[in-house]
Amino acid sequence: MVAIARKIPSAPAAPQSEFARDVLAGLGKTPKTISPKYFYDSEGSRLFEDITQIAEYYPTRSEIEILKSHAADMGALFPKDTALIEFGSGASTKARVLLDAAPNVAAYVPVDVSAEFLAQEAASLHKDYPKLNVVPVAADFTQDFELPQQIAAMPRAGFFPGSTIGNFDPHDACAFLEHARRILGPESVLIIGVDLEKDSNVLHAAYNDASGVTEQFNINLLRRMNRELDADFDISRFEHHAFYNRERHRIEMHLASVKRQKVRVAGETIEFKAGETIHTENSYKYSVESFASMARGCGWKPLTVWLDKKKYFSVHAMRAS
Ligand code: SAH
Ligand code: AVI
Repeated sequence: MVAIARKIPSAPAAPQSEFARDVLAGLGKTPKTISPKYFYDSEGSRLFEDITQIAEYYPTRSEIEILKSHAADMGALFPKDTALIEFGSGASTKARVLLDAAPNVAAYVPVDVSAEFLAQEAASLHKDYPKLNVVPVAADFTQDFELPQQIAAMPRAGFFPGSTIGNFDPHDACAFLEHARRILGPESVLIIGVDLEKDSNVLHAAYNDASGVTEQFNINLLRRMNRELDADFDISRFEHHAFYNRERHRIEMHLASVKRQKVRVAGETIEFKAGETIHTENSYKYSVESFASMARGCGWKPLTVWLDKKKYFSVHAMRAS
């Protein structure tokens, strides 16, 4: 009997996660890129907290110095019973400094992609601030997301510290500012931290710390792909590269392949040339004027700006225009 060849329908492919889709799209580009938002699984959030403690990473210390000196002036800009919405809240360390000096804040809405870390930090904040309504939202802040019902009737203010705005290209930074303005509403206030241009040696050291924490933060992205995307990155075959790109006013972080190699990621084979990199992050540095002028063009009127003593970092208060 002659067997009749029949085409057996293949099983439908498992739906890909957004992480898998974005990674494959980014690794298919030249140069290869992955969005820095994917640094932040729970391990990435913990590593970022370690970065904030290292001697060379000045931004956190400089911004906390500014907040400690001027939080009351910032808080005075918020109307009574304000809901404070923080974009990319991490451990909410800076929010605590602001909250301590802002009696008009009645609710705090930390928004972050790192869902488990967010839940832990929100619980600890709730314990320490029992009168404050803490309502965490696990979401990508570049997309539309629902604000909690509890704050629907409250005036809103925004908090975007850390110079996380610097992780956007200028065009996307403007789009984010417009998006934040829509979320926060007319007349709202936004308090935003922006890292400043400075001696390139200081910048270089901040992203190439001697203890190697920033390297681990960058490499965690490879580990995360191994954990979640069934990837087989050999960590010993990639290096952390971080340098200041003077023309573009930004620190660039890359993961460089030390040799020619193939890697499996989410069911696909990705080829690397020796020395080829995955561009994982930009961290733009502004002057006070360059940031204020960008913000003016993107829906915000600068009100006040505060700097630390070394003039390394700035915190701007702006009103929706
Ligand atoms: N605000 C804190 C943490 C800054 S680290 C501070 O100033 O110290 C950047 C934070 O933004 C991380 O917690 C990260 O998880 C979050 N994040 C990065 N991209 C995001 C995105 N697209 N949507 C939501 N959160 C994001
Ligand atoms: C969150 N963001 C503003 C940090 C920065 O400095 O760009 C992330 C970071 N990358 C390396 N070190 C810290």
